[in-house]
Amino acid sequence: MNKLEVPRKFDRAARGYDLLVGLNPGYHQALRRSARALGLRPGMRVLDLGCGTGASTAALLATVPCLEVVAVDASEGMLARARQKRWPPTVRFVHSRAEDVDEGRFDAVFAAYLVRNLPDPDATLRHVRGLLKPGAPLVLHEYSVRDSWLRTALWTLLCGVIVPVGWLVTGDRSLYTYLWRSVMDFDGAGALRDRLRRNGFVGVRSAPVPGLQLGVVHTFLGRER
Ligand SMILES: C[S@@+](CC[C@H](N)C(=O)[O-])C[C@H]1O[C@@H](n2cnc3c(N)ncnc32)[C@H](O)[C@@H]1O
Repeated sequence: MNKLEVPRKFDRAARGYDLLVGLNPGYHQALRRSARALGLRPGMRVLDLGCGTGASTAALLATVPCLEVVAVDASEGMLARARQKRWPPTVRFVHSRAEDVDEGRFDAVFAAYLVRNLPDPDATLRHVRGLLKPGAPLVLHEYSVRDSWLRTALWTLLCGVIVPVGWLVTGDRSLYTYLWRSVMDFDGAGALRDRLRRNGFVGVRSAPVPGLQLGVVHTFLGRER
């Protein structure tokens, strides 16, 4: 699948998205864990890039309830689901590609399950760096299996369940076969840390999310220099 088509695929999958992620018992807990790595404080202005139906937005607010959040996604279908939920007045949903976001400067950026889907991750990471205030953090929450044959095998095994269940719930198999392949093709944790450094982030580190994410999902932290 051409990566420019990914948001359109999510338009079609939006109806079943919350049900599917709800079937993964560690999903929301893992997002909250990565959101905590941002070190947020009340009143901060935060960008949730690729917010989807708002699961990552909710994770940010669970960490610190009083935040100004600009939640951006390129899929109108996913945003429509997000907007149906109850949010504080300081949360705003914006339809835009990550590459085009022009919403001023932020105290922190969170991007959960986004970067793997970008047509040009390097250019977008540089764009995101420009959206951060000096020294402010970026956290990526992302699948990364290529550094470990065990995690690669585990991911393929998990997709033996995820692909048919996703197909059953949404009636579309292509997004879920794409999910399997995109993770297999994407950076290992070391390569993604290097990618962040290469695009100007400092203090880069990462850790696998423990527990039910089985080490296939990682938290990556970097800072605007
Ligand atoms: C797997 S969902 C993750 C949603 C949410 N962050 C979460 O944790 O549940 C990935 C989201 O990224 C969005 N997306 C993909 N490419 C994008 C792009 N270039 N710009 C903005 N959003 C994009 C999709 O529309 C989709 O809603």
